[in-house]
Amino acid sequence: MQSAAPQMEAPQYEETGASVRAEPCAFVLFGASGDLARRKLLPALYRLALEGYLPPESTIIGAALPRLTPEQFRAATRESLERSPECGPVDEAAWRAFSRRLHYVPMDISSAEDYRRLGLLLEQVDREHGTRGNRIFYLSLAPSLHAEAVRHLGETGLTRSRGRSWSRLVVEKPFGTDLETARALNQHIHHYMDESRVYRMDHYLGKEMVQNLLVLRFANRIFEPLWDREHIDHVQITSAETVGVEGRGGYYEGAGVVRDMLQNHLLQVLALVAMEPPSNLSPEAVHDAKMRVMRSARAFTPERIRTECVRGQYGPGQIAGRSVPGYRQEAGVAPDSRTETFAMLTMRFDNPRWAGVPFYVRSGKRLERRVTEVVVQFKDGPLAQGTPNQLHLRIQPDEGMALRFATKAPGRAVRHHDVALDFRYGDTFGTRLAEAYERLLLDCMLGVSTHYVRNDLVERGWELVMPILEAWGSTHDELPLSSYAAGSWGPTAASRLLETHGRRWNET
Ligand code: BG6
Repeated sequence: MQSAAPQMEAPQYEETGASVRAEPCAFVLFGASGDLARRKLLPALYRLALEGYLPPESTIIGAALPRLTPEQFRAATRESLERSPECGPVDEAAWRAFSRRLHYVPMDISSAEDYRRLGLLLEQVDREHGTRGNRIFYLSLAPSLHAEAVRHLGETGLTRSRGRSWSRLVVEKPFGTDLETARALNQHIHHYMDESRVYRMDHYLGKEMVQNLLVLRFANRIFEPLWDREHIDHVQITSAETVGVEGRGGYYEGAGVVRDMLQNHLLQVLALVAMEPPSNLSPEAVHDAKMRVMRSARAFTPERIRTECVRGQYGPGQIAGRSVPGYRQEAGVAPDSRTETFAMLTMRFDNPRWAGVPFYVRSGKRLERRVTEVVVQFKDGPLAQGTPNQLHLRIQPDEGMALRFATKAPGRAVRHHDVALDFRYGDTFGTRLAEAYERLLLDCMLGVSTHYVRNDLVERGWELVMPILEAWGSTHDELPLSSYAAGSWGPTAASRLLETHGRRWNET
């Protein structure tokens, strides 16, 4: 007899094509002329409109420093859509409808007068489009401008919810530049609005395979019983990029890969891989589960930083047959820069599930291949010879997963052969996978914050990496910064470290 499985609370919305519809709102995009807005946010909003997820009343208000007219903003948006691989050839009818939703207000973040004009425009779109006083303020700004924008929005009353109307704030990463600034920003935001209206963006949480982690782990019976120290030898999380700093040398010099990728994106993925089952799928329960496991992450002591972490910086090399300069030759980078473009951290959790299981987390620019994946390596079975069982979760590209195991090769002799069961989203569903930003912007419009980052978790991320940032940023620092050739898999020190643990990176 089959016993009834305890059920988790149903997700907050059922997605059945365009039947998921948010309430009308005005979406105010601060930093509307910036790179992220052009490459990701405006194309994502267009796709949502094209696919019928945006109610016809919803509007988009671009707010940025250039003194553009609404017409110029529409023309710039059209250009961004043309360039976006996500939008394909722009559909003329959809564009006509979309462009009618676009408004623009020149905005100097420190000018009270500009917020007053934004307020007038919001009232106008409420009247003319029927946005019902619902507002999303999206801060796609340099982190140094976040606090000022929040203060003005709060003081002018723009972020106040009135009656049945709501207002939400989305803050792009980086959220602060260290623990102190992140804490201060959280306190500052909470002075004007409560946490339930704050959405901290981490676009990795919108990727299909990252969202799939919840389903994979908790909807299947076959993985969770094995998901612990009894059965898992170690876990590798890799985010390898072939791109360099892409003209963002100035920003990257002050950031480095730990701030840019590890503190946020990879720690979020790690939390989803390592957490206990949430009590249900409500945002609070998922945030609580992530927070609980991250609280048990072992702190980085000077000894652990020396022996369990590696940093590197790319030198010149070849990527896909093309010569590329080294990091120190990039525009905006100091010729003697000590900023890390590669880092690997050995994370450990002091809890009953994971005691003794290392999680190797690494990320780097200008590596051999673009790949983001989680590899769960299982312990050997009693007759194992050769390659261990591995579960590969491919976050990008070619989203999907593969389970590698040994089988007997045909023939009389018993020879083990390593094979894989491979699932690819592209082959199975044959549909386009929505971009992370499309999913997350829609979630925010629906008021679902499960895949955003709660205040305590963002602070915990900083708390964990601060000792590393301090050790590596110190002027008296004697820890090596290994150079690696662009187009390689990063510093050899990262492979050596795993070898000393009797393990190897998966680089196939
Ligand atoms: C951003 C980082 O958050 O993520 C970039 O600032 C990085 O440096 C990018 O290239 C990677 O995102 P994706 O979605 O291309 O893996």
